[in-house]
Amino acid sequence: MYNEEVINEFQNLQNVGFIENHNAYGKIGNAACGDIMEMTMYINPETEIIEQVAFRTFGCAAAQATSSRATTLVKGKTVQEALELTNKAVVDSLGGLPAQKIHCSVLAEEAIKACIENYLDRKAGKVSNENEKPKMV
Ligand code: FES
Repeated sequence: MYNEEVINEFQNLQNVGFIENHNAYGKIGNAACGDIMEMTMYINPETEIIEQVAFRTFGCAAAQATSSRATTLVKGKTVQEALELTNKAVVDSLGGLPAQKIHCSVLAEEAIKACIENYLDRKAGKVSNENEKPKMV
């Protein structure tokens, strides 16, 4: 059901974990299955480059593989560049997913957006929303 690229990514997950000194935080839930993804980033406030990114998830193999790939695609990129990453681009970079698993890839794109939104909120002096329930997509 999964192609080799997806299986390989799943077996060699990148950037799993939690960045203690993060300044960007996102938590997203998948309304279709109830799975949850949490992402943290350290974004350099001078350059706005994503220097560190990590995820952890209660999610299926497709969610984990796409999250892993998405983190490698945004690491070293600017906030603006990261916002342009779509779940389709992540899925394409993995050579595709079974149709019924496409919804799983949305977690990564939305978690990146949530992280950056949180970073911009903190920058604007708003309180971080880390302890809120996950945003369901
Ligand atoms: Fe829930 Fe894939 S089945 S994220």
